[in-house]
Amino acid sequence: MNHPCDPHRPRWHFSPRRNWINDPNGLVWFDGEYHLFCQFNPFGDQWGHMSWAHAVSTDLVNWQELPVAIPEDERVSIFSGSVVVDEANSSGFGEGHAPPLVAIYTGALRRNEGGQAQELAYSNDRGRTWTKYAHNPVLDLGLRDFRDPKVFWHEGTQRWVMAVVLPDDRRVQFYASGNLKQWTLLSEFDAPFEGQGIWECPDLFPLPTTSNQDGPAPWLFKVDVLAGHPSGGSGARIFFGHFDGTRFVPFDDSAPTPQWADWGADFYAALSWANLPPNADGSTRALWLAWMNCHRYAKHLPTSPWRGAMSVPRELRARRGADRRWQILQQPAAEVTRLRGAQQAVPATTLRNTVLDVALPAGSDGHALDIELTLTDCSAVRCGLRVRVGAAEHTEIGYDAAAGSVYVDRSRSGYVPPDDDAYAEADHAPVAHAPGPAQPLKLRVLLDACLLEVYVNDGECVISEQIFPQPGSCGLQLYAEGGHADFAAGAVHAMA
Ligand code: FRU
Repeated sequence: MNHPCDPHRPRWHFSPRRNWINDPNGLVWFDGEYHLFCQFNPFGDQWGHMSWAHAVSTDLVNWQELPVAIPEDERVSIFSGSVVVDEANSSGFGEGHAPPLVAIYTGALRRNEGGQAQELAYSNDRGRTWTKYAHNPVLDLGLRDFRDPKVFWHEGTQRWVMAVVLPDDRRVQFYASGNLKQWTLLSEFDAPFEGQGIWECPDLFPLPTTSNQDGPAPWLFKVDVLAGHPSGGSGARIFFGHFDGTRFVPFDDSAPTPQWADWGADFYAALSWANLPPNADGSTRALWLAWMNCHRYAKHLPTSPWRGAMSVPRELRARRGADRRWQILQQPAAEVTRLRGAQQAVPATTLRNTVLDVALPAGSDGHALDIELTLTDCSAVRCGLRVRVGAAEHTEIGYDAAAGSVYVDRSRSGYVPPDDDAYAEADHAPVAHAPGPAQPLKLRVLLDACLLEVYVNDGECVISEQIFPQPGSCGLQLYAEGGHADFAAGAVHAMA
């Protein structure tokens, strides 16, 4: 149960004990621990005094918050960036047998006229304490906006590579370095489209494929745009292509219209984990998580004493679609499933122009659920599932036949931020097929107080949204409007 003063607090997604957070930073696995750093205001619940908060986990789902890792100082705020494990001590920051962790982040000058450049800090005690490099910055173009370095080791060319954005130019630059301190420009990449916002938080990594028939793993380039996402706000744009150590070249056959990592309003600044340990078969997972929020309204949300939360860690794969184009598949990391407790079966049923109450698992208050549901046929105009159902509110997650999409409608979800028309509009993710016996529509819905992640067809698309209903709104319903819908047997799991 949530405390009455903190009804929206997620129970199994990461949120800070108190104060404001935004972007995940420096996600890295090292010596048995997953590290989650993030943008944090140590002094309040609004954006400001950016510093890196820190949490660790041994299982990706139970997080222990540690003291602030890299605090703002007199000169700079600590904006977004990444952490690498410097195995060979190329930086010279190492002190003993273990390699140092090196953080590469944007130092944002605190003087009025601003200025952003890339800086370093390092740790020789498993990320517990950090020393800022004495000769910061290490990459300074004298620009007001130049930020969010994502650094990784490129095997092929045996050097460090940095992706970093020129936000207003909507352009990413790639740099190389042998020691993390001196950087040389390699190339640039952009891909304008009308109405897009500034670029932030780039990431670039090879994506494991679902089948080795598909050829070598493609590279995924992700960049967040502050405007121009189909939800009416910000979102994570993705490109498939090849990175040869110098240049990112998108595949010719990559989609002509922007591709998105998530179709909801609340999935921003996703970052992938560095240095993940290999699986038993020698392969390596690709995992990321994102800030489940939107800068447009984050400041107005009714949470206290904390503000902001992360998505669950998602495992990523690439698959070729029927048209041979690469698609991204995202699933909650398998570790999430371990949090399942009591289960309530949902019997197979057919509904016609009606609403059906679904029982909650024993002991569940309807705030923390993992729901599996399959639509096997429908003639309905709209059909699906309602969560957080109360007397006058609910959030609808369903199939919209006219649009050929899955949608999340938060127009009746409770609190709406002031003067924000786009917030209450339904967000849609296109699906390839209408639900039918040969191609059922599978939904997996993660609900955690104010957080809702909807995974469609094993992660072909995802819709992530925040909702702020009354604490007492905790029901579940199936619905079919304007026709019939067949639901296969499903399950509702209470989450620990
Ligand atoms: C994205 C962002 C980054 C910046 C950070 C500052 O949310 O604006 O571009 O580094 O947040 O908190």
